Amino acid sequence: MSFKHDVIEKNSILLTVLTLLVVSIGGLVEIAPLFYLESTIEKVKGMRPYSPLELAGRNIYIREGCYNCHSQMIRPLRDEEERYGHYSLAAESMYDHPFQWGSKRTGPDLARVGGRYSNDWHVAHMINPRSVVPESIMPGYPFLAETPLKVVDVAAHLRANRGVGVPYSDEMIEMAEQDLISQADPDSDGADAVLERYPGAIIANFDGNPELTELDAIIAYLQMMGTLVDFEAYEPEANYR
Ligand code: HEC
Repeated sequence: MSFKHDVIEKNSILLTVLTLLVVSIGGLVEIAPLFYLESTIEKVKGMRPYSPLELAGRNIYIREGCYNCHSQMIRPLRDEEERYGHYSLAAESMYDHPFQWGSKRTGPDLARVGGRYSNDWHVAHMINPRSVVPESIMPGYPFLAETPLKVVDVAAHLRANRGVGVPYSDEMIEMAEQDLISQADPDSDGADAVLERYPGAIIANFDGNPELTELDAIIAYLQMMGTLVDFEAYEPEANYR
């Protein structure tokens, strides 16, 4: 470049100082605007923490490694929006610890799978995917239908999530076990309380079996995925004004 460049190259201190100067300009350009944004997470209506049953299902999702084949992030690209629905918002994963965006789609994106199929479909599909999608290469998870759901540790899971910023109240933690059981039992007295604490939660005997199993939990989770945000009240430009 310049004929004077050799002066810099031969003086290590000068080179260090100038390098730091150049690098810090790059840093400023990237970081400074963030301080002027009101929020990097858009404001939306409808987001709430996971109900205890949904959270238990989410833990099973992670345990079974579903993320190895499924992403949970719809990109703002036309083909993805036509197939999966509205692109994912940052707010939709703000209570996810750890997030499940994933990086591989052997199966479809699941960010908005909630409400797309019936509970019965999910039961059949989880036990043997080939029974409803003959060409499916997804493994079956029949043992979920036979494994009783562990109830005792659910309050601890809520507490751990609160530790990283999810706004679970003392009452939610105290009632966690009860709420977990009530959500899978439409006849229980506790169902209304679940709805009050977790608006929009689906109350159902998800697997159709009177016993509370891991299959109940994972279907409760699948059925709520991507359904919380009220897109009628969402204004995408709000952030950039
Ligand atoms: C080896 C890869 C693989 C793994 C692991 C896997 N899946 Fe799948 N999944 C697929 C494929 C492929 C499909 C598409 C065919 C079908 O519907 O079965 C699919 C479809 C689905 C669907 C239907 C989605 C839609 O929109 O039609 C759901 C729900 C689902 N999987 C849930 C799960 C859950 C929950 C787990 C973990 C317990 C899991 N999958 C693990 C590959 C996988």
